[in-house]
Amino acid sequence: MASLSNSLIARGAEAEIYVADFLGIKVVVKKRVSKPYRNPIFNKMFIESRTRTEAKVLSELYLAGLPVPSVILVDEEGGVIVMEYVEGSRLSDILGTLPRETIIDISGSIGKYAALMHNMEIYHGDFTLANILFTRSSSIVIIDFGLAGYSTDIEEYAIDLHLMSRSIEALYPEFSEIFTKNMFEKYKEYSKIGGENVIRKVSEIRARGRYVDREVRKAILRERYIG
Ligand SMILES: Nc1ncnc2c1ncn2[C@@H]1O[C@H](COP(=O)(O)OP(=O)(O)O)[C@@H](O)[C@H]1O
Ligand SMILES: [Mg+2]
Repeated sequence: MASLSNSLIARGAEAEIYVADFLGIKVVVKKRVSKPYRNPIFNKMFIESRTRTEAKVLSELYLAGLPVPSVILVDEEGGVIVMEYVEGSRLSDILGTLPRETIIDISGSIGKYAALMHNMEIYHGDFTLANILFTRSSSIVIIDFGLAGYSTDIEEYAIDLHLMSRSIEALYPEFSEIFTKNMFEKYKEYSKIGGENVIRKVSEIRARGRYVDREVRKAILRERYIG
């Protein structure tokens, strides 16, 4: 894998993202890095467990036919996942430039794929417009399963939908209502685990308001910290 150091494209809270050439295929290398403020043993456990979970979730979703990058290589100890590079733009960056019809289609796809993912007892954990890529062929690809996990607790599923709905509200308030409504409709259509209840839970979370948003953020931070 040549010239990794020349192709850093993003540096997030947990990982560095490189674009590289792997046997002639353009790939993304996601490498989790140690945090100086964490205990070294803890760093190692955290990096290994988050890498394992992210790779496992990605592979399962990919094999089930969901639009996620395919996993090419995993090095748990090194905290590295090599995956397919997806040519596209983050929805958080470009949603507003798209035609209204396309935006509505996208909201439906997001609802559908969220339902299919939750049907597999997988939650995303950071389900926002920044973690959805929009490709040239006008399809969406879900990325960044760094906070994902397995659960049968519908609260986790509701948090995914809540985060997505908050994300559109914050970035594109003019589309927020139609987007969320359509996303929920498709979610219910494809859910096999009682989509109605999940949507009800989203309303509950919303009704709990700011306080809960704070709790949600704390939960995410907690998870980021304890893996
Ligand atoms: N498979 C991929 N194909 C193309 N770009 C990607 C891919 N995975 C990540 N990226 C880019 O790298 C950025 C950060 O990756 P992400 O997995 O979201 O990590 P973080 O936890 O730092 O947000 C993404 O916003 C996206 O621009
Ligand atoms: Mg991300």
